[in-house]
Amino acid sequence: HDLSGSVSLAWVGDGTGVSDYGKSFQDVTGLINNTFIRSEFGIAISPNNSGKVILTAEVSGDLKTRIFVSEDFGKSFTDRNLPFNPLTQITYNPENSSVLVVLSNDLWLSEDFGVNWKNIHRMVFVGFWFFFFSFNFSGDRGMLELRRTTNYGKTIKTVASKIYSFGLGGRFLFASVMTGKVSVQRGTLRTIHVSVDQGDSWNIAQLPPVGHEQFYSILAANDEMVFMHVDEPGDTGFGTIYVSDDRGTVYSKSLERHLYTTTGGDTDFTNVTSLRGVFITSVLAEDNSVQSVVSFDQGGEWVPLQKPANSKCDATAKDPDKCSLHIHAAYSTSQKLNIPMLPLTEPNAVGLIIAHGSVGDAISVMRPDVYVSDDGGYTWIKALDGPHHYAILDSGGLLVAVEHSVTNPVNKIKFSTDEGQCWNEYNFTKDPIFFTGLASEPGARSMNVSIWGYRDSYLSQYWTSFTIDFKELLTRTCGDYDYVQWLAHSDDISDPNDGCLLGYKEKFLRLRKDSVCWNGRDYIVNTQPTPCLCTLDDFMCDFGYYRKENSSECVEQPDLRDKVLEFCLQGKEEQLQTSGYRKIPGDKCEGGEVHTRKEIDLSKRCVSDLVGPELLVSISASKSVPVVITVVIVLILSIAVGVVFVKKYVCGGRFLVHRYSVLQQHVEANAADGIDEPLETNHTQNGKIEFHDDSDEDLLE
Ligand SMILES: *[C@@H]1O[C@H](CO)[C@@H](O)[C@H](O)[C@H]1NC(C)=O
Ligand SMILES: *[C@@H]1O[C@H](CO)[C@@H](O)[C@H](O)[C@H]1NC(C)=O
Ligand SMILES: *[C@@H]1O[C@H](CO)[C@@H](O)[C@H](O)[C@H]1NC(C)=O
Ligand SMILES: *[C@@H]1O[C@H](CO)[C@@H](O)[C@H](O)[C@H]1NC(C)=O
Ligand SMILES: *[C@@H]1O[C@H](CO)[C@@H](O)[C@H](O)[C@H]1NC(C)=O
Ligand SMILES: *[C@@H]1O[C@H](CO)[C@@H](O)[C@H](O)[C@H]1NC(C)=O
Repeated sequence: HDLSGSVSLAWVGDGTGVSDYGKSFQDVTGLINNTFIRSEFGIAISPNNSGKVILTAEVSGDLKTRIFVSEDFGKSFTDRNLPFNPLTQITYNPENSSVLVVLSNDLWLSEDFGVNWKNIHRMVFVGFWFFFFSFNFSGDRGMLELRRTTNYGKTIKTVASKIYSFGLGGRFLFASVMTGKVSVQRGTLRTIHVSVDQGDSWNIAQLPPVGHEQFYSILAANDEMVFMHVDEPGDTGFGTIYVSDDRGTVYSKSLERHLYTTTGGDTDFTNVTSLRGVFITSVLAEDNSVQSVVSFDQGGEWVPLQKPANSKCDATAKDPDKCSLHIHAAYSTSQKLNIPMLPLTEPNAVGLIIAHGSVGDAISVMRPDVYVSDDGGYTWIKALDGPHHYAILDSGGLLVAVEHSVTNPVNKIKFSTDEGQCWNEYNFTKDPIFFTGLASEPGARSMNVSIWGYRDSYLSQYWTSFTIDFKELLTRTCGDYDYVQWLAHSDDISDPNDGCLLGYKEKFLRLRKDSVCWNGRDYIVNTQPTPCLCTLDDFMCDFGYYRKENSSECVEQPDLRDKVLEFCLQGKEEQLQTSGYRKIPGDKCEGGEVHTRKEIDLSKRCVSDLVGPELLVSISASKSVPVVITVVIVLILSIAVGVVFVKKYVCGGRFLVHRYSVLQQHVEANAADGIDEPLETNHTQNGKIEFHDDSDEDLLE
């Protein structure tokens, strides 16, 4: 009956039978002595389903904070006093959930689930748990030290100094370092260094230089490669995506004019987790409209999304028959468009993507519809009219959606058992509710979904939730005959050369669309990878080379012709001999096309500006050989797997907060104070989002 503010939902456990999936709730206020819990960082759940829960009490004036810990899925709580006031979420060590870490101004650590806390480092600027790095703040930004501890603070090693920022992505650790060089237009330049051994040794990443008002951002990373965004000089709102090799040092250009606002840190970059190699993002076109593009080969090539067969081009299209699908993601949300959910994919719902979008020449500001792809983004259908909340259940065997309306109460849930082609409706109540959001267990294996909302009459106001168990509908367990073979990245399963991606093809067993049955909680994705022969498509263009439009061949960049490529690798100057091709990181092709590349040790020592003071040798600035790559800058994001609370605004000032596990990206704060003006968006008459940047306009008058 408390409609004052918000509801935070957190999932503890994973179907081990301790809960009933939201069908009933027990009041535990008494167990925590009626203490108020913070609304931000208030609930911390252990990431490994061990049943550990930490509630952080609201601070009451003094500098100490009380927490309540539970080790039995919240059935009982013990209170603990912290000798400090936490500024961040208490974070669990993913390997050992008894070990906690949190930042106040210092870095605090507990090895006994919050009983004892020790201050392991003073004045920590940013810290990341799993690799135990922290910044030691010693005056200026750009003069930070990056330190590491692998034994919970007993010993601490400085792995780099003169650091501006750092970040983690996959197995790569990045640090941006002040070069001491100053560009007239761009101010002090930073350079980016990368380590694959947690800071013991560093290489310079071969990325273009950026000035102080620019930024670098890790868009996505795994152990094999990194997608790095490099901001363009000036407040353009876009930059260039580079993809790295498997050492994180050599980069090739992947996408230009990639939309990424400087101030908001908004990018549409989305890893389509339901199909290997697929990524969707947006570019800012020359006419300042925002357009979606998709890559099916991990950033090798980007193309517009195919127009859904059952849709017409909207007013943004010049030619009413020729246009493409545009996907609403984080940028649209930041522009306050009516997009209740970001694109949704799940690794166990193979090939499936659900997203809001519009069909035209560019993203439209008009009412979006819901589109579904069942083949990882190659083809799309319009699935639902207007904005919806949606969820994937039973590993993709079931989709559910509830219409998003701020003003009208709802009583209807829509569901589809054929990957969004046909939708059925079910009235879950006679008395419609003001809907705030859908909640289902993370991981998309459940058949239970809760519909959250509230009732609001002049007599009473209260939160209400309905949990629907679709087991009543999908009563039959799927058998072998319910599955059909599907070859990813292919439209012709009989063609032996079709479907190869990054050197191998994958056949999946997928549920037939007309099968109405239950995959089950234990469903595992069935795939049979087979290697392919190497072709030019298994190579990316090496440093100094690029692909001409519509061609697989790599040609030399004219400005680098006849120049020797040198770079600093593991402290040694290396020369690169290349025919222009470099195998795509993670590509598993065998035989076929062969391209050799060599890195020759020039037996010269080269030093990054980074390493410890004892290694700081000044390098003579001018080299006889043209040094092609002066590297510069970075910006880092780190990826922290954790619990994130997302607020969903509902009319009347009510919030429903959902938990889901995401990759959280930290964008490096801008170095320059107040230099970056907020970027604004204008809407043109035909409904395109028009990108607009104040400071550029000032220059143009
Ligand atoms: C609640 O308060 C009582 C009495 O002050 C105390 O003994 C008990 O430990 C408290 N319980 C929790 C969970 O804080
Ligand atoms: C977790 O860490 C604590 C403190 O270092 C240690 O006593 C305990 O054995 C560890 N547990 C596991 C499962 O590693
Ligand atoms: C994209 O997501 C998939 C599935 O979660 C993951 O395996 C892959 O490493 C991710 N790719 C990148 C570059 O982050
Ligand atoms: C479901 O609810 C709608 C209005 O909210 C009503 O028009 C419709 O008849 C209901 N359907 C059933 C089967 O009760
Ligand atoms: C749905 O919830 C019930 C408990 O109410 C649980 O027994 C069942 O396993 C859940 N179904 C799935 C598929 O998670
Ligand atoms: C590349 O192919 C597209 C579509 O086939 C065509 O419109 C475009 O003109 C081609 N570009 C070049 C440089 O040949």
